Amino acid sequence: MDVEALAKTKIGRVFIRWMGVIMESRLRYRLFGPLKILQGAGIQPGMKVLEIGCGTGFFTVPAGRLLERHGSLIAMDILPDSVEAVSKKVQEEGLSNVQVIHGDALDTKLEQESLDEILIFGVIPAPVLPLKKLLPEMHRILKPGGAIAVWPPSWVHRSIDGSRWFQYVGKQDGVQLYRRADL
Ligand SMILES: C[S@@+](CC[C@H](N)C(=O)[O-])C[C@H]1O[C@@H](n2cnc3c(N)ncnc32)[C@H](O)[C@@H]1O
Repeated sequence: MDVEALAKTKIGRVFIRWMGVIMESRLRYRLFGPLKILQGAGIQPGMKVLEIGCGTGFFTVPAGRLLERHGSLIAMDILPDSVEAVSKKVQEEGLSNVQVIHGDALDTKLEQESLDEILIFGVIPAPVLPLKKLLPEMHRILKPGGAIAVWPPSWVHRSIDGSRWFQYVGKQDGVQLYRRADL
């Protein structure tokens, strides 16, 4: 079952609501400061960045601030409720460089070779995001030399590094960075 189908069931809605509470808890902010994790991803002012699965916007607002006005962030989620909530958050923060969109990370419909970096934070490993579909799509939309940043580190590392799409660069503040391979 995919996330959109899950969100249409009663139990799914309860589960998603609870996930939202956990993701926005003070304990999470204290244990996993979003700014430090974003710095580990190496995003810099001026970059064009995509965040997939923005959820409650835990990383969205600090990422938008880090990129400053001449950089931009597209925050994407497959759940319309998340898109609405994060759009509101972004508007309240006055972040005109952040665009929150409804979309599927497996088929983003974004322009090819258009992004400097993609944040894959708190979304893999997940059965709804199979790497064999996700990685080619991430490769397609990244510029040559672009990178994906993955947090938290997990066993998917082997599959990403062993794929033809990305090469491992290193780890900082728990974030694993992979450069887009030249095919
Ligand atoms: C566990 S939450 C993590 C949210 C956020 N990245 C964080 O760490 O706080 C995973 C998010 O990924 C979204 N998601 C799942 N499948 C997706 C897909 N195919 N495309 C875009 N977003 C997806 C879910 O709706 C959910 O909001």
